[in-house]
Amino acid sequence: MASLTDVAFRCLVSEMGGVGLLITEMISAEGLLRRNQRTMEMIRNSNDTTPVFIQLFGENPDAMAEAARMVAAETGFDGIDINMGCPAGKVIRKGAGAALMKDPAKAAKIVAAARHAAPDLPLTVKMRLGFDRVNAPVFLEAIQAEGVDAVIVHFRLQCHRYRVPADWSHAGSLRHIARVPLVGNGDVMTEADARMRLAQVDGVMIGRGAIMDPLIFHRLAGGNGSVDLEERVIPRLLELIETHYPEPMRLGRLKALTRFLVSGRHMSRRYRQAIYTATTYAQGARNLLALADRLINGHGAAQT
Ligand SMILES: Cc1cc2nc3c(=O)[nH]c(=O)nc-3n(C[C@H](O)[C@H](O)[C@H](O)COP(=O)(O)O)c2cc1C
Repeated sequence: MASLTDVAFRCLVSEMGGVGLLITEMISAEGLLRRNQRTMEMIRNSNDTTPVFIQLFGENPDAMAEAARMVAAETGFDGIDINMGCPAGKVIRKGAGAALMKDPAKAAKIVAAARHAAPDLPLTVKMRLGFDRVNAPVFLEAIQAEGVDAVIVHFRLQCHRYRVPADWSHAGSLRHIARVPLVGNGDVMTEADARMRLAQVDGVMIGRGAIMDPLIFHRLAGGNGSVDLEERVIPRLLELIETHYPEPMRLGRLKALTRFLVSGRHMSRRYRQAIYTATTYAQGARNLLALADRLINGHGAAQT
């Protein structure tokens, strides 16, 4: 997830345990080929035990092939996921992300190019139900014919954004035609949601729910989510930000990551504001630790 599943957050979730696969923020295939400095920073990986896939986006099969070759030769990522679901205007206008849902033949060419360029790396596609109408069955047929190893379906159209709930009623028919594992995505916010959805698909991908609650995978895998571990989440996130980013980048990272981390919880708006209005990393970190303390000890819940 752009600006969220960075190296620090991926390390945090991996350390908390239970997660089977992590995926980077979306990375421009062309940016990677240009060795754009910001892109190279974004593809830093950690040496942890959980497999990490790099997510690439682009609309040009040749560039995708080159980027896939570079990932295989020069990085330690365990696989490649191709983004065919991003609804953002600047991505769509270039014909990438969810724009590819309108053109299954082109999407298939992109998959074929990446498959051919990196034959030994697992290859997945993140797709939607369609662009402005459901065409996921046709789309799925087209990409699986080119050797994709699994598909992840966000059960919404591009035009839906988050305005309507994810429509999991399509899971059964898609699973019926899928010859590869089908991973479902959309509105899985709690362990109960995940357990219910796991009956419909081969796996679930958790986005916002994981940023709000990095222990969700730990508990899904049978962990007890103890208070000790709860207490570790925020201090450890701060340590990881400090490990992976130089001082000028830390405050921005802290604000981006905590926007979701705190949004799912009842707490004083005053405390949230204290993080967003911090002008230095030290101040932001102090405010976040104070907030964490109130959350764990239940002091913040009553105020709004
Ligand atoms: C801030 C933000 C950034 C996102 N960035 C990406 C991205 O880079 N690649 C991607 O495939 N999906 C991205 N998504 C979409 C999520 O991966 C996911 O498909 C969507 O949020 C629905 O799943 P959820 O209900 O579990 O969050 C992003 C979502 C948000 C809110």
